[in-house]
This record gives sequence, structure tokens and C-alpha cells, in this order.
Amino acid sequence: MFLPTHKTPKGLTSAMPLLDSFVSFAVATTTVILETVVQNAFYFRDLVAYYFGGGKKSDEIKLDGGVRLRSYDLLALHYTLWLVGSPSYKHLQRMFDWNLTHKHADIGVATGYWARHSSRLGYLLETQAPKGGQVEYHLFDQNEAFLDYAEYAISKVWPPVHYPLSLESSLVSYLDPETVKEGDQGHYTSCQAMLLLHRVAYPVQKEGNLGAIKAQQLFKLAASLLAPGARFYGVTVLPPEAVAQPTGCCARLRFLRGKAAQDHLRRRGVLHNEHDTVDNVVNGLIAAGFSETSIKIKVVNFVMAWEATLA
Ligand SMILES: C[S@@+](CC[C@H](N)C(=O)[O-])C[C@H]1O[C@@H](n2cnc3c(N)ncnc32)[C@H](O)[C@@H]1O
Repeated sequence: MFLPTHKTPKGLTSAMPLLDSFVSFAVATTTVILETVVQNAFYFRDLVAYYFGGGKKSDEIKLDGGVRLRSYDLLALHYTLWLVGSPSYKHLQRMFDWNLTHKHADIGVATGYWARHSSRLGYLLETQAPKGGQVEYHLFDQNEAFLDYAEYAISKVWPPVHYPLSLESSLVSYLDPETVKEGDQGHYTSCQAMLLLHRVAYPVQKEGNLGAIKAQQLFKLAASLLAPGARFYGVTVLPPEAVAQPTGCCARLRFLRGKAAQDHLRRRGVLHNEHDTVDNVVNGLIAAGFSETSIKIKVVNFVMAWEATLA
């Protein structure tokens, strides 16, 4: 719909299978080595902190999966975003901050990275306090370890004893609307689904446009949490088939790097985006009740961002 198609130059076409295999091998090997080094480095750092810090930091390693989760920001966020040619995380942080309000639903929160680094959240917390108000920040995820970790990590940056922050967590599955509590429905004035859609597994049925069904289900769930006029925004990773094939050597290599990273993550069952397209996202937003004229889309390499307002 929004994407122009380009032809790859002839010279490159013949060398493509070889180049493709080489980039694929290089990306997969580097990723596995980096993951092993980073996770062990975090594990080692935690152990040192535990033994030489008089157990002071032991709370950080008590959480289930804590060591793995502590390396998440570096590996899953910064490294993977670079592989798929994303705009810098500072751009994504600006988008998060721009749309954040004092009643916010964070769906698929993982480690709560954006809230921990948000200057806008700091501003809201400072300005709510004199009025005796508070900022409600609600975390939703299907993984209890992420919820525990995110709540712990966010309250370490913005301790609720010093800031008027009400942090709440809910275990939900976005393909099961029953898991959203009645009191949360229509309650929030902003909601984000950053880097979530490409991670949500497709519904079990084999018929129909699975990408469209998944996007609609997730967006309907987001819409059910929001009040009319509220903002919904997010970022997802599109599959190679859904984006324009670039021309030019550097762009082509960047494309192969992103494609190889996605193949690797799909083989490991981390990524579920093979049926996702720009149209599925836009149509899903409209079907969920977001105003068509409010929808803003931006695609950079494999990364697609959207912003929309509930009608
Ligand atoms: C890549 S992380 C997103 C991280 C976070 N939003 C960020 O931008 O840093 C994906 C998160 O979505 C959660 N998730 C995946 N599928 C889900 C589903 N069907 N329902 C609820 N949460 C889901 C995972 O547990 C994980 O925390």
C-alpha cells in the first residue's frame, strides 16, 4: 500500500544466493556468540556483586530469570533493533514520551525499558505531585517473570515512596480477551505496544489471513483498555516479504542482515511475523475502532511505527 517496489541490479542478482548464505551464517554465528558472552558477563557481574557487595545486590538476582532479563535490553532491544535497521532507540523513546499520559497501559512490557528511560514520565510524576494526583502505569504481559522484573526495575528508577506512581501488573494473553479485567476497560488515556506484534504467536486456526486476524485481536484488546480520544502507538518488525527490496550495495547488505536476523529468530521461535504486513496493521487499527484519519504510519527498513487515536 505505502511501499514502492524496486528491482535489484543484475550484477547483484547472480551473486545473491551466495551473499545471502554468507550474511545468514555471519549474523547467526555472531548473535549466538554475543548472547553467550553477554549473558555470562551479566551472570559473572551478579555473582561478584553478590559475594563482594555483602549480599547487597542479591535482590537483583533473586528474580526468576533475572540474569537473562538483565541482558535483554542489550540483546533484544539495542542489538536486534540495529540488525533490522531500526531508527535509533532515541527516536523510539521520543515517540513513547510524546504519547505518554498519566493513565498509561504498557502492553507486552518486558523489562519496562521505555518507562525506565522516560523523561516525560519524570515530568508527569513531578507535576502530578503538587496537585495530589498520581500517575497510573499499568503493566500487561503474558510472562510473569517479565512483570516481576519490570515492576522491580521501574520502581527502582521511580520509587513510589518518592514519586506519586501507581504501578500495577496484570498477567494477560492478547489473544484471549477474557484475561482483561472489567475495571481496566476504557480506563486508560494512552497505551503502547512497542515491539510486541511481531512477537505474538498467530492464532491456532489455519484458515484466513492470519496476519490480519492477529493484528485485529491485539488492537481490539488495546482499544478495549482505552477511553475515547485516547492514543495508541507501537512499533513492530515486518518480514522481508512485506517491505520494499532496496537497491544499492549498502542498502542491500543491510536488507540481508535484517533478513538473516529474522530467519534466525524465527527458527528459534522468537519471532512470529511471516504473515504481517503494513495493510494488516492499518486495517486492524481501523477494525478495532481507531479513527482512520488519525492513523500515522512510518516504515524504516524492517521497522514499522504507528500512532492512532480511538474514535
Ligand atoms: C519484544 S518484547 C517487547 C518489549 C517491550 N515492549 C519493549 O519495547 O522493550 C515482547 C513482550 O511481549 C510479551 N508477549 C508476547 N506475546 C504475548 C501475548 N500473546 N500476550 C501477552 N504478552 C505477550 C512477551 O512476554 C514480551 O514481554
